[in-house]
Amino acid sequence: MKKNSTLDLITKTPLLHLDKITNGNGIIYGKLEYLQPGGSLKDRVAYQIIKDAYNSNQLKKGQLVIEMTSGNMGAGLAVVCKQFGNPFIAVMSKGNSPERRKILKALGSEIILTEQVDGQPGMVTGKDIEFAANIAKEIAKQRDGFYVDQFNNPSGIRAHFETTGPEIWNDLNEIEVFLASVGSGGTFIGTSRYLKSKNKNIKCIAVEPENASILKTGKILNPKHIIQGTGYGMIPPLWEIDLADEIITVTDQEVEEMTRRLSSKQGLYVGYSSGANVKAALKYLEMTKSDKVIVTILCDYGYKYTDL
Ligand SMILES: Cc1ncc(COP(=O)(O)O)c(C=O)c1O
Repeated sequence: MKKNSTLDLITKTPLLHLDKITNGNGIIYGKLEYLQPGGSLKDRVAYQIIKDAYNSNQLKKGQLVIEMTSGNMGAGLAVVCKQFGNPFIAVMSKGNSPERRKILKALGSEIILTEQVDGQPGMVTGKDIEFAANIAKEIAKQRDGFYVDQFNNPSGIRAHFETTGPEIWNDLNEIEVFLASVGSGGTFIGTSRYLKSKNKNIKCIAVEPENASILKTGKILNPKHIIQGTGYGMIPPLWEIDLADEIITVTDQEVEEMTRRLSSKQGLYVGYSSGANVKAALKYLEMTKSDKVIVTILCDYGYKYTDL
């Protein structure tokens, strides 16, 4: 298979039957988003945001691009900005794993690390990312940069509505349940909106950390958890409650066990949010005692996490 640009490696990820994970009831497919060049689901969002920014004249060739990132959006932007000829600065909380810094540096981006407010290494909270975002916005202002603003930028949802949703539908129109963890909410909102437009009976389920389940309970018992990139204890600005038929929560222990099982049993070395998604899919099958066909997202590689 011949490709002419790194950008051609973004989108069109495969769906894999996770045959070593289920107990015989139901079928779970993982969409292998980590196979993209930046190593995560955020590559398609980065590509869409930069294309849309050029098309709306918000961004010009050579202009600085800046974003607050947990690492994955930064890696996606680093890859995409290189192809478009824009320098990129990633502003990242120190709580995100050092492996993420290494990847960003290797991809040629400038990195600014920010202090944690109430999190700890490996556990980045909503307050930590708010602090980082304010610094990113300030730098964008000072240096006439384009601030990506993944939490408020509708191009993120558009990326998933125009690519993730159609890819899943075209590969597997017998899908009955879609399930995804929530950071900015772009993956869940865009994909769910597309799938429901094709078949309104498809159940869409959001996944949250048990003790920071703001969407399900409105409460945060503990903002710290291991599912980096998700569960920031705030309702994402573009959240659409009507798309979520249900919300399933998972504990750190469940997530860790499932993430390790995906590596050791299925041969997929993925990160914690992938484990969270698959654990929630199994919980759904157990709770409903059903044999439904489920699709969920395998978001990023395990090599981005210190202790995996
Ligand atoms: C590892 C990981 N999983 C899941 C997500 C959640 O994706 P979204 O922002 O589309 O809700 C992110 C977002 O950055 C992430 O980095």
